[in-house]
Amino acid sequence: MTAKLIDGKAIAAKVRAKAAEDTAELVAQGFAPPGLATVLVGSDPASEVYVGMKQRMCKKLGMESFSFTLSPDSSQEEVEKMVQELNDNPKVNGILVQLPLPGHLDDEAVLKAISPEKDIDGFHPLNMGRLAQKGREPLFVPCTPDGCIYLLDEVGVELEGANAVVLGRSNIVGMPAALLLVKRNATVTICHSRTKNLPEICANADILIAAVGRVEMVKKDWVKPGAAVIDVGTHRIDDDTKEKGYYLTGDVAFDEVSEVAGWISPSPGGVGPMTIAMLMRNTVRAAQIAHGLVEV
Ligand code: GUN
Repeated sequence: MTAKLIDGKAIAAKVRAKAAEDTAELVAQGFAPPGLATVLVGSDPASEVYVGMKQRMCKKLGMESFSFTLSPDSSQEEVEKMVQELNDNPKVNGILVQLPLPGHLDDEAVLKAISPEKDIDGFHPLNMGRLAQKGREPLFVPCTPDGCIYLLDEVGVELEGANAVVLGRSNIVGMPAALLLVKRNATVTICHSRTKNLPEICANADILIAAVGRVEMVKKDWVKPGAAVIDVGTHRIDDDTKEKGYYLTGDVAFDEVSEVAGWISPSPGGVGPMTIAMLMRNTVRAAQIAHGLVEV
């Protein structure tokens, strides 16, 4: 079997186009464009790149972007005060505090300080708690796992009753991905560094979401023939034979796994563009919530 490719770039482009359309509609109705505030504490190069991409995408889609950078030795009070000011600023509909924060800061307290109505990352304990509860809905869902589910839906993979395995239990991807799959009536196994018989467990999955942060860990014999595989990992590997001096790869050994999987979302070119697209969608939703245009 040769897997069909899940084209995250094309699917993300459609989500972004809809966010741009909804933005234009808000503006046509006389509202200010949706505004996203990003808060970066410190100067981690990867975080700077991610935050820059989010800001540029906002502008490209007609939204407002407000960017704040705090020094790496900022105190807890300073970061929370910044969040409070953004909560109080009506031009700001969504607040994104880029993670990870420097080690001396309490990230849970910072995330809790964000107004749940502006929590476009879906990381506020209220939103995460609702995600974990039957019959309750969060105001926002974390962007990367939401993007994974969107990709599966877009290509018609059935979630209801499927055996889904999530590799990784991070707060940002693994755990919310598992909770989203449960909400959609999949039977979910969460695997992590202490999991025994990992290859066998993965080989039972109809849907495999790899968010473990290990280079090309998922091999061909870990994958059930016909399964849908979503690779969330991104790794930069130095390689002098490449023009850029490096190449990007994921948590899945793409070439061999695509020989057995039914569907595969590659990395790069899969979930990455979806994360930003879902963030744009959430920012528009935050503006719609602020203007009383959607029920929450
Ligand atoms: N760091 C890595 N991914 C994310 C994300 O989706 N949101 C935030 N705020 N920080 C991140």
